[in-house]
Parts: sequence; C-alpha cells; structure tokens
Amino acid sequence: MDVRRIREDFPILRKGDIVYMDSACQSLKPDCVMAAMDLYHNEFPACGGRSVHRLANRVSIAVDEARERLASLIGAGSPENVIFTKNCTEALNTIANGLDLGEGDKVVTTDIEHNSNHVPWLRLKEKGVERGFAPTVDGILDLDAFQEMLDRSVKVVSMVHTSNVTGTTIPAKEVVRMAHDNGSLVVLDGAQHVGHTFTDVTDLDVDFYTVSVQKILGPTGVGLLYGKECLLKDLQPLSVGGGTVGLADYESVDLLPPPERFEAGLLNYSGIIGAGVAAEYLMEIGLDKVKDHETSLNRGLKKRLSSIPEIEILGPDDAGLRAGITSFNVKTMGSHDAAMILDDMAGVLVRSGMHCCHPWFQSRGIPGCVRASMHVYNDHEDISKLGDALDDMVSTFCR
Ligand SMILES: Cc1ncc(COP(=O)(O)O)c(C=O)c1O
Repeated sequence: MDVRRIREDFPILRKGDIVYMDSACQSLKPDCVMAAMDLYHNEFPACGGRSVHRLANRVSIAVDEARERLASLIGAGSPENVIFTKNCTEALNTIANGLDLGEGDKVVTTDIEHNSNHVPWLRLKEKGVERGFAPTVDGILDLDAFQEMLDRSVKVVSMVHTSNVTGTTIPAKEVVRMAHDNGSLVVLDGAQHVGHTFTDVTDLDVDFYTVSVQKILGPTGVGLLYGKECLLKDLQPLSVGGGTVGLADYESVDLLPPPERFEAGLLNYSGIIGAGVAAEYLMEIGLDKVKDHETSLNRGLKKRLSSIPEIEILGPDDAGLRAGITSFNVKTMGSHDAAMILDDMAGVLVRSGMHCCHPWFQSRGIPGCVRASMHVYNDHEDISKLGDALDDMVSTFCR
C-alpha cells in the first residue's frame, strides 16, 4: 500500500500542519469524494426517483450506482437490501423501533456499546423490553457468559462489531451462530469495522448491519442499514412520507418495497454519491491491505507508548487485537487536557472523553481516555510524532 501516494489524495494532509488521529470519530475525505459531490451540485442538482427529466434521471442512476458500490463494500447480496439513512445512529434506531418487540422480550448487547446501540434499546423499556449485557474483559467478549444469557426471551442480540473504545472485534460469525441457534435475530453495529477490514454480511449471516459513512472516507450525513430481504419487508420504517409510497388515498397507504420504503423525503444525494465513491476508493486500495496497514501502525504505536511509563493502554495488550485504535490514559492528567496539549504542542489531533460509551466508563469509574485512531492515510511518521509529543507532554507536566 503506497501511503505516501494516498496521503496526496487528502487536501488537509497536503497542507502538512497536522497529524490526524481522530478517524474513529470522523475520517478525512479524499479529493475524488469531494469531486463527485461537486459534480452533482454543478451538473445535475435535482432529486432522484421522482421527476423524469434528464437531470433527475442522472441523479437516480448515480444513486443506484452508489447503492451497488456500498452493497459490494459490505458483501450485501443485493443493493435492494441496503438502505440510506442519515447516519449509523438512525439505522440502529430504525431497527430498534421497527421490530415488533414488547413485554417480556429481551435484547442482549455487550457491556461496551456506543450510546447509539444502547439508548435506542434502552428506550424500549417503556414497552416492557428487558436488557442483558454480555460482559467483555479487556474489550474481549466473554462467549461463555453470552451463551449463558441466551434463553427464549432473547429476541435480539445487538452488538458492536468493532469497539470504538478498545478497538477489539467480536467473533461475529460465532455470535451469529449462537444467537440463531437460540432463535434470536442479530444486529451488528459496523461503524468501526467497515472501511478498515474486509466485511461480508452475507457470509456472516447477520440479520441487520449498520454503517457510518463519515467514518469510511465518505461525507457526513449518510449511514447505511443492511437487512436480509425477508426481514426488511416486515420492519416498520421510522418515518414515512414522500418517496416511500406506492399509492395512497385519504384512508390508507401502500408502501413501496425496501429500500424506498425506508427512505422518506428527498435524500442527501450529493452525500450518497460521495459515499459510493468512497466505497470504490477503499475497495481499489483493498480492505485486506487497509487492515494490515492499520495493524502495523498500531503495533508501532504500542511499542512507542511502552517506553513512556506514565501511559496506560485500555484494552488488550496485543495491538493486533485493537484494529486501528489505541485508547490510553496519561497518569495524573485528564483526557481532555491531554488532547488539548497534544494539539497545541504538536498539532496531533486525537479524541478524548468517554467516546459515547458512558455506561462502560461509568461502571468502571474511569472518567475517560485519549483515543488515537487511524486510517489509510496515517503512517509511521505520525506514530513517531504522537510518541514524541507524549514524551514532551509527560516530561513537562507529569514529572
Ligand atoms: C461503534 C459506533 N457505533 C455507532 C456510532 C454512531 O455513528 P453515527 O455518528 O454515524 O451515527 C459510532 C460513532 O462514533 C460508533 O463509534
């Protein structure tokens, strides 16, 4: 993988004054994504799926093409099984609210979910839906404990595929098999998985899968909801209206089949088109190469951080298990202070705080952490700069 060449595709990196290590929050976007979005605005800024004039037809074709590219990225058998949402959170809310769950049903998640895969299920408490939290140890899912939790009341297992805190990935195929043996549906939150490694929802046999496009080198304001065809047809849409209707009269409505049924109102066409181009860009690089690259960076970072005694890494010791994410704390310093100092002193941009995983941090009495997260454009020089900045920070403020 030619990282030097890849870096040239990202305008903000061409300026050369920052080290960007906050891709788990939001990735940078390459020129080709912006160019595709500009092309839409400049040449065919119309709506798709409604008008039949030449500009509208071009939009419809471009949206179809984006859907096909994104379906390929996640291994969805058919583009019709891929729905555009406004983000991963909306996709998860659609599933939680669209399944017919009620009194006595149970939803099992891990104990390290992002709020977007926690709060939508938590709200179903009002309908009598119970929760179970499968424990993780150092971010690794305890499969035996998970198995113990599976009984007939568990209608849904909804888990983070790769954690945004520890970077650990659950053994998804095994989880799906165990849940299906129990008769439970499986939802995977792929926000930190897709775009960093090869993903094949068909091979996983997962029932629903969600994606955050702004984290896969795509624009903000787009997410994906994948569902098996047989399940999407019974899932209730979160919102309905224009674009979702086959025919309506004053008393009743026939909704269109998926995906249109779930895509109410005019869509974020430029974002969707940019999303398709981002998917293509990543597939051209090769997702296996992206994974190896991030793992190599993370191993380098682990080695560098090991030389700084004030730093404590969260999650497993083996950097190979932490995807492109390293979360850590600096003894005697709050995570926000550390993040601000790293920016001020060295232009190294990381995320700090609880990373929207409040229950996990709260239950362990950890006030937050610093997270360095990587993507295709990071290199070993970035790792050195972060290491040097941490050395400087620690010797100035902590010794
Ligand atoms: C694991 C995980 N799930 C869900 C989300 C929410 O994604 P979005 O911002 O696209 O709704 C995030 C965002 O950081 C995440 O890291």
